[in-house]
Amino acid sequence: MLAVEISTPGPPEVLKPVERPDPVPRTGEVLIRVAAAGVNRPDVLQRRGAYPPPPGASDLPGLEVAGVIEMLGDGVADWRVGDRVCALLSGGGYATLCAAPAAQCLPAPAGMDLVTAAAIPETFFTVWTNVFDRGRLLAGETALFHGGSSGIGTTAIQLAVARGARVLATAGSDEKCRACEQLGAERGINYRSEDFVDVVKQVTAGRGVDLILDIVGGDYIARDLAALAIEGRLVVIGMMGGGDTATIDFRRILGRRLTVTGSTLRPRSVEEKGQIAAAVRREVWPLLESGAVKPIVYKTFPLRDAAAAHRLMESSEHVGKIVLVT
Ligand SMILES: NC(=O)c1ccc[n+]([C@@H]2O[C@H](COP(=O)([O-])OP(=O)(O)OC[C@H]3O[C@@H](n4cnc5c(N)ncnc54)[C@H](OP(=O)(O)O)[C@@H]3O)[C@@H](O)[C@H]2O)c1
Repeated sequence: MLAVEISTPGPPEVLKPVERPDPVPRTGEVLIRVAAAGVNRPDVLQRRGAYPPPPGASDLPGLEVAGVIEMLGDGVADWRVGDRVCALLSGGGYATLCAAPAAQCLPAPAGMDLVTAAAIPETFFTVWTNVFDRGRLLAGETALFHGGSSGIGTTAIQLAVARGARVLATAGSDEKCRACEQLGAERGINYRSEDFVDVVKQVTAGRGVDLILDIVGGDYIARDLAALAIEGRLVVIGMMGGGDTATIDFRRILGRRLTVTGSTLRPRSVEEKGQIAAAVRREVWPLLESGAVKPIVYKTFPLRDAAAAHRLMESSEHVGKIVLVT
């Protein structure tokens, strides 16, 4: 098969198209003929050598694909050869074939092309498990999403609005703020020209927000705590700001009964990811099939041009997802 490998840790140019032996599905896995593979920020971290694949995962980058099932491993009863699926992976998506645990596959939503479907799994699983499961966001509550124009942010805004929450989102330009508002955010906050704590206080009449999904970390953490309402939840899932430590005032956590939590999706077991898949299928698939929410595909690149896709991602010019097409 054709694959794109990380020849050595480094800049986008280290991504090299190569021939690799076809993967063989193990027990409980399916082999997928890949139509398209989503690009995610964790792929960039892996390429730089900062996010190694978990034990047993493919060394190839790629956390999500969509395609057609070509072969079933032993013990797979829920899928048939020829089914159109999208799948969450621990790696291996930057290739024309990949093996995926059957429990991490979902049917491509009815009426959706496979390029769009490839942009679903990583962000929808991550947003589901962090915003609605861990973060317990309810209809009528208010959420603040940092990085509102990111793959994660565009998914979080749409899902939260579709489920009846009020949404505020930060982004790095006025144009990106307007894109967040077009997706349903009540107010985009340009973090380069506005203080998000002040805007949150203004918009919520001093109350604060119920949930914050933070991909920035570092000195955002103390400011997040200042922007949370009583019983608010802070869920940290990334460190785009570069800082993995923070100094915070615990009196605020005690006094306002706040929860600070976070998670990473990739190292979780197939069983846990299968549970997230089942919840996403039950709660989110109807929204995707009705068109109430959709992955925002900003640009596609041929698989061989994965380096150009990574350059675009690192420029942060995009709004939504970048997808590789085989
Ligand atoms: N924990 C998990 O399970 C999990 C899973 C998937 C992704 N993630 C994390 O979620 C984040 C988003 O991933 P993605 O794939 O959606 O990435 P993405 O589409 O590339 O978006 C990242 C966005 O972050 C913003 N940004 C960059 N530097 C920033 C800074 N210093 N301060 C504030 N914002 C900054 C950029 O937009 P602006 O123009 O607004 O700056 C950029 O568009 C990443 O940190 C990733 O590692 C976590």
